[in-house]
Amino acid sequence: MCGIVGYIGKQEVLPILIDGLKRLEYRGYDSAGVAVVNKDGRLDVRRSVGKLKNLESALEGKGIKGSLGIGHTRWATHGRPSEENAHPHRAGGIVVVHNGIIENYIQLKNRLIKEGCKFTSETDTEVICHLVNMYSKKGNGLEEAVRKALKDLHGSYAIGVINENEPDVLIGARNGSPLVAGIGNGEYFIASDIPAILNHTRDVIFLDDNEMIILRQKKYAITDMDGMPVEKEINKVMWNPVMAEKGGYKHFMLKEIHEQPRAIMDTIRGRISQETGHIYLDEMKLSEEEIKGLKKVMIVACGTSWHAGLTGKFIIEELVRLPVEVDIASEFRYRNPIVDKDTLFLAISQSGETADTLAALREAKKNGAKVVSICNVVGSTITRESDGIVYTHAGPEIGVASTKAFTTQLTALFLLAVYFGVVRGKIDGKYLKELLKELVHLPLLIEDALKTDKEIEGIASAYFNYRDFLYLGRGINYPIALEGALKLKEISYIHAEGYPAGEMKHGPIALIDEDMPVVVLTADDKVYEKVLSNIMEVKARGGKIIAIASEGDKEIAKKVDSVLYIPRCNHFLTPILLSIPLQLLAYHVAVLRGSDVDQPRNLAKSVTVE
Ligand code: AGP
Repeated sequence: MCGIVGYIGKQEVLPILIDGLKRLEYRGYDSAGVAVVNKDGRLDVRRSVGKLKNLESALEGKGIKGSLGIGHTRWATHGRPSEENAHPHRAGGIVVVHNGIIENYIQLKNRLIKEGCKFTSETDTEVICHLVNMYSKKGNGLEEAVRKALKDLHGSYAIGVINENEPDVLIGARNGSPLVAGIGNGEYFIASDIPAILNHTRDVIFLDDNEMIILRQKKYAITDMDGMPVEKEINKVMWNPVMAEKGGYKHFMLKEIHEQPRAIMDTIRGRISQETGHIYLDEMKLSEEEIKGLKKVMIVACGTSWHAGLTGKFIIEELVRLPVEVDIASEFRYRNPIVDKDTLFLAISQSGETADTLAALREAKKNGAKVVSICNVVGSTITRESDGIVYTHAGPEIGVASTKAFTTQLTALFLLAVYFGVVRGKIDGKYLKELLKELVHLPLLIEDALKTDKEIEGIASAYFNYRDFLYLGRGINYPIALEGALKLKEISYIHAEGYPAGEMKHGPIALIDEDMPVVVLTADDKVYEKVLSNIMEVKARGGKIIAIASEGDKEIAKKVDSVLYIPRCNHFLTPILLSIPLQLLAYHVAVLRGSDVDQPRNLAKSVTVE
């Protein structure tokens, strides 16, 4: 999704904007631009299609110098990626960058055209700068003009606004799309996400919906949309800039895959005591009484986080014996779901900003459900709107394809399920200690699973030219087949489908031939024999099979074309280990096909529009 950066202070603004935009590249974009009020008062707006290096070339030698500016990476919603549609947009002296969707832009555009405004782009954003310009021409200062303009808008936005004629003020506002403000020493920042400003400050303010921040050279103020002051706390961000860098790896995705032992250790850290069998999930905020009173759990999420939720259903139902429904967030809100005060609504989101998940959460809250979120980004909107939180503590995930976010979500779900199971009397002391021992051992097993990297590269080189893949799994590992297929398709652009292995005979089997490799998850568990039968069905039709099996399973090697082994562990944790070779397989295939692994086409890291 679009990325916004803004700065007001004493430093040269251009390098700050470009550096900030680079750190937001992971969000996905197709064009970029900056606007700077130069020291001589002149406003410069430069935009270009494609990657930031094109913008940098366009800026070279232009002598842009100033200490107030805004920058933007655009992910097209209204209008194709082009220079005219790229942000910032300008009307008179007003310049705007925007993330979100203005739903009533056609009505506003028609009205503004009648009043004589000339539009130069196909975007919804351009109406914002014409509106601000119009109110500013009526004698309002920038702050008031923005406030009046925002009242005319329906839809979602995070915006940054400057005015050539008021070089001492930068305005940010949000309604539905994320925006943070960075508080530096005599300088201020706005950004769509924290990594954009981490090099400059760790002190941030998370704006809430319908809030506006007015940043001046020496002071700032936050108001609501009626201009009433709002008190907000300054949060210290513990992530450091190095955590959001590649650290010698070729891609963020590869770095994040290899970070998983550490990330999972951080999910567990401080939350369990093996000696006493205690689990500490203080931020989850549900009392034992409330947990005992629950009648059902509803897990709602999108994409990879939804796959974590599907796996969570198996874990919670077995360990807690509570019914669990799992929904795709964009479907949940439109199906009139049955939610009440005895329902635990569990939102899962890496970013904490996914618009569909947030909308579903609000819907559930309105209906009286208790809302807990499993989230990675501290202070994100979803966490702020939840009653309780289980942070995954995976650290910043920059690659668009979720890897460590996923396995830490699974770890958090396991912790939550074990805790609920104890509180509801389904797990006794002995079993609890066994489960916790397995969990503590997990990071070491992941280290082992990562050792197959070279072998997987070899398998990838044998398969990277195929056009279609099928992924099969059963039981708790079926969602992992979905996740494996999603990983492959989103970064290598190969068509891949995940299926419950037992369902193959009801349709997908028609696709099987020598051109359709099948990745089968065959961990040694209660459905192992069943999966073997599915393997034979594929083989009988000439299909090529890559199996991911449990260490020591020699027999499987005789039945399939390639086999990768994962360490044996408790069946609740097997999905985490199975994910590792699937992530590496997708990664190596994508690299061999020359894809942009960290920023795959058309995708955004955090989808902040519906
Ligand atoms: C994962 O690889 C995807 N990029 C995507 O499906 C993602 O999981 C989804 O958009 C949900 O994001 P969230 O976890 O930040 O809510």
